[in-house]
Amino acid sequence: MLKRFVVAFCVFIVTFTGLAQAQASTTIDGMEQLAWEEIAPGIWSAQVGEAEASTFRDLAAAKPRMEGLAKMGAAEFPFDKNDTMGQVINGTRTSVRLPLGLDEQVYGLGMQFRNMNRRGEVYHLRTDHYGGILGRTHAPTPFYVTNDGYGVLFNTTKWISFYPGVGNRKDSTLPPRKDRTTEAGWQAVPTSDAVEASANTTGMEVIVFAGPTPLDVVRRYNLYFGGGPLVPRWGLGFWHRVPTAASDESVTAEVDEFAKRDFPLDVIGLEPGWQSKAYPCSFDWSPVRFPDPKNFVSSMTDRNLKVNLWVNPYISPDSTIFEAMRPYTGSHTVWLGEVPDYTIPEARKILTDHHKKNHLDIGVSGYKIDEVDGIDNWLWPDHATFPSGTSAEDMRQTYGSRMQQTITEMFHEKNTRTYGLVRGSNGGASAYPFAIYSDYYNHKGFVTALCNASLSGVLWTPEIRSAGTDKEWVLRMQTVCFSPMAMLNAWASGLKPWSREEVDTEIREAMKWRVRFLPYLYTAFAKYHFEGTPPFRAMVLEPGYIANSNDEAGVLDGEKNPYAEAVRKDVTDQYMMGDSILVAPFFSGDRRRNVVLPQGNWYDFYTGKLVGNGEVIEIPFYLKQIPLFVKEGGIIPLLKDDANNTSAWQDGVALEVRHYGSEGGSTSLYDDDGTTFDYEKDAYSWYDLSVAKTDNGTFATSVNKSSGTYRKTFGKVEWKFMTR
Ligand code: GAL
Repeated sequence: MLKRFVVAFCVFIVTFTGLAQAQASTTIDGMEQLAWEEIAPGIWSAQVGEAEASTFRDLAAAKPRMEGLAKMGAAEFPFDKNDTMGQVINGTRTSVRLPLGLDEQVYGLGMQFRNMNRRGEVYHLRTDHYGGILGRTHAPTPFYVTNDGYGVLFNTTKWISFYPGVGNRKDSTLPPRKDRTTEAGWQAVPTSDAVEASANTTGMEVIVFAGPTPLDVVRRYNLYFGGGPLVPRWGLGFWHRVPTAASDESVTAEVDEFAKRDFPLDVIGLEPGWQSKAYPCSFDWSPVRFPDPKNFVSSMTDRNLKVNLWVNPYISPDSTIFEAMRPYTGSHTVWLGEVPDYTIPEARKILTDHHKKNHLDIGVSGYKIDEVDGIDNWLWPDHATFPSGTSAEDMRQTYGSRMQQTITEMFHEKNTRTYGLVRGSNGGASAYPFAIYSDYYNHKGFVTALCNASLSGVLWTPEIRSAGTDKEWVLRMQTVCFSPMAMLNAWASGLKPWSREEVDTEIREAMKWRVRFLPYLYTAFAKYHFEGTPPFRAMVLEPGYIANSNDEAGVLDGEKNPYAEAVRKDVTDQYMMGDSILVAPFFSGDRRRNVVLPQGNWYDFYTGKLVGNGEVIEIPFYLKQIPLFVKEGGIIPLLKDDANNTSAWQDGVALEVRHYGSEGGSTSLYDDDGTTFDYEKDAYSWYDLSVAKTDNGTFATSVNKSSGTYRKTFGKVEWKFMTR
């Protein structure tokens, strides 16, 4: 029955009669039509006014992945070029106006926590510590995607204001005027036919990305900025951050406790106290807490553990590189530390020489870059100056990106992959191997951020820090174990996974699933890198997830349509992981929850049972495991055996490959050395894992190399047919 209501994205129909499409002949006073040039298949650029000195292109970690873009093929320019306009006002402010269908929905504009649909609100995009102010966020990416299947990046590192479907120029197509006293339908925010945006700059580049689906738009955006990061395999294990004043001895005792209690662990994160001085930072090891860093890191390496170091960029006079860095710092201090200008190559070299010698060469695997988002009265003022001449505003918008770039390059030179954390990012950041985190701590908001991150080319970790109840502890742990980075950040709480004994079993189970999912997750990250597909995605990016524009009120032919209702509200509490899995976490206080299933049959991951197809189902609360659902024909490669560390993936590792549903299917599995950049020189392989239905109704399986030159590392494949 519900299928009757289904209308796919690609046949999205605008129903607002009379004003149906933005009109080709619109004349907008003072604005000039943009001239578009195709710069890659399905990607076009237009320049308004002067070219800016620095754009997201300069900040990208890698060049466009032209091979991946070429594979996606050519596409038509997605809207009417006549309706695209730009203007430089008084030589100081640049504005852009692009058409927006009257029924079109807008997503993206950075990693916001509150909701997903941007239409009808105003966003002043600024890199900021999240404080709930619209547009101020850790990653204020000026890129939007619409359900009509195209996206636009405003390629400026300036503070930029967006008016998606807000504001009505007198010379635009206006909706009918209503008398508020006597007529129904008066609107506080009258329907607008455009997205307008502007920033204080003498010019701006605008880049359009074609679809046809919203997922294709995001893929083109990510590929254009180098493709997603192929994170090291160890990065997909469990991360634990220790209390801020931990010492080598306390850390060693803590990691040994993980092993003793049988909890997974791959990465240990040291918080500020590993340094001799913090806030501002020395970047030098504390002689009191870590007197022999080389020995400490190698003892962790012997345990197959990686060490990640917390830093913030503000440099203490006690740092061994303070004097060298001084000529390259800005006018103002942060926590009385000086602020290096990393747009200057010499400044970057001082930092990287120091870090290589004192950290990387002894085995440190990466960094957590804190405080690059900034609250106004913490960071530098708008009139601060920097030796390169970069404005305070530009510096605020891009500091996190510059740090990510500097560190990414440093590891690249060593042919060693890194994965770390950062609290500020922006456009063009797709290829950085960093997950964003926040001091904010709302569980639902964390999941919304996970969805929004996928629309902005960034990764996000809904880290677990603490919980009010045992139940909340489990639910948060489950979510983080099914996210881009599975991490307990105990810098302040000092909690361990086993801190709540009553729920030890559930916590251990969530963490162990994380490690078992390694083949599936690692492949999802390889697809992020080579194809641009985010490993964790908002439902609006899922083909078969339906926007039902025909059914405005959720009622059709007098019948209530729960599917349309749910979709219109924008589903922000469930998401896709890899090719085939839908994750629907429970939240504290839930007694049940709705799950919106895209078109096609869906199966319970744990039991293999059919749960629904293109509809909203209700599931009763359970604590044991996080609810996971698999698409028809889904094939899920897992480690066959439980493991506590990703080093379990070694030559000959046995896999369990699960199949769901009654149809055949196939998926690909990625293989390489897991730690170096040799994949850039083609040292990788893809395998096809296939299930075909035979004439007598049984399934035939196959595992075949489909491309690549890397030797096969996995061993025996055991198939498990979950739906019988
Ligand atoms: C905060 C950060 C926390 C923790 C803390 C240490 O800024 O968000 O995760 O690292 O600093 O002082």
